[in-house]
Amino acid sequence: MNTPVEGFSKLSKNEKIDWIATHCTQDPAASKKLLEQYWNENRNLQKVHDEFIENTLSNYYLPFAVAPNFLINGKFYVVPMVIEESSVVAAASKAAKFWLNRGGFKTEILGTEKVGQVHFTYHGDPKKLKEFFAAVRPKLLESVTTITASMEKRGGGISNIELRNLSEKMKGYHQLHCTFETLDAMGANFINSCLEQLAKTLEAEAATYPEFGPDEHIEVLMSILSNYVPNCTVRASVSCPVSELATDGVNGLEFAEKIKSAIEIAKVEPFRAVTHNKGVMNGVDAVVLATGNDFRAVEAGVHAYAAKDGPYSSLTHATIENNTFTFWIEIPLALGTVGGLTSLHPMVKLALEILGHPTARELMQIVAVAGLAQNFAALRSLVTTGIQKGHMKMHLMNMLNQMGATESEKQQLIHYFKDHTVTNASVKEALEKIQSQ
Ligand code: MEV
Repeated sequence: MNTPVEGFSKLSKNEKIDWIATHCTQDPAASKKLLEQYWNENRNLQKVHDEFIENTLSNYYLPFAVAPNFLINGKFYVVPMVIEESSVVAAASKAAKFWLNRGGFKTEILGTEKVGQVHFTYHGDPKKLKEFFAAVRPKLLESVTTITASMEKRGGGISNIELRNLSEKMKGYHQLHCTFETLDAMGANFINSCLEQLAKTLEAEAATYPEFGPDEHIEVLMSILSNYVPNCTVRASVSCPVSELATDGVNGLEFAEKIKSAIEIAKVEPFRAVTHNKGVMNGVDAVVLATGNDFRAVEAGVHAYAAKDGPYSSLTHATIENNTFTFWIEIPLALGTVGGLTSLHPMVKLALEILGHPTARELMQIVAVAGLAQNFAALRSLVTTGIQKGHMKMHLMNMLNQMGATESEKQQLIHYFKDHTVTNASVKEALEKIQSQ
């Protein structure tokens, strides 16, 4: 049914919708209606959304929720979360409340260094390249002053430019490995603009460098930030006497040991580590999305970090020492609270307001806490009741909606399933029973 189309991006929004509804769906009238139903009535707001990306047809909604009662470094936060998975916000809220009575979360920024690289080839004498770089370094920095001036005024900018010889890994491959401080901005545009200018200057200076022979020239392949930011990291932790951990019929020490063993498994077994860290990312991504940050960048960077010592491993850690249980996470997070979507998307603005207009450093700490809390909640369920009990309870509403239950049927069944096991079959059976009465 799908056919190639020329000049699609030049069609008006209505024309695009008509084309999609007619060429790609079974029921054009219903599809067109659906696409239009999700428009925002506020035309200005819809325009903002339309202009985020190319070929916008409609909006795609996800729930915006909050998890209250997060005590972080002695300060209370209500944490906004955007996520579709039923149990995540409930789990975050439960974990926040659990640690609220045990001293709350403590966090520490370990670094805020961002990275970008100019990748180039040079097939000449590496010693000459080093000399060239030493001579040209001030010119490189000079060439980006118009880009860096405003960031520098606020205390940021380029913190270092290093020449790296990677020709042993790939013939002729070298790079400028640059580090940046981008303050409250995630910094992607700033970094990429700097890198592209550095690349131009590098090539131009090389072309006239008298020491290079005819075959010794620099050819830049690409200039781009790195989403791997192992020195832009934050640590979040919780700690309490083991005796205070008694939960769900399990005594404190037994519970602490079970959590520790669960983490040890994730440290040595990648199949488990991936799911363990997926649970962490349930919390991380939900806050990253709510605050308009780039969750793909965060995901890529965090998972690379999880494999930094070789095999893919747990992002969280736990110890039991002197009858004290300590549980912590260390993750890289390149986040921004200015620029990007932060001043454009009304819900992002609101999320940042709910968080009390955090700096990027503060947001890193909140996000790391959300990840740690989520992992705690998952492990707590896994080593005690299993996750399906809570998960299916939260999923009950989705099932009832799918089965077309009325409001009154939903209320009756929510009550019924307070002490019955939720499965697709048991919900269907209970609903049919009510409907037949
Ligand atoms: C589900 O979204 C996340 C969990 O699988 C995480 C975990 O297993 O640790 C429950």
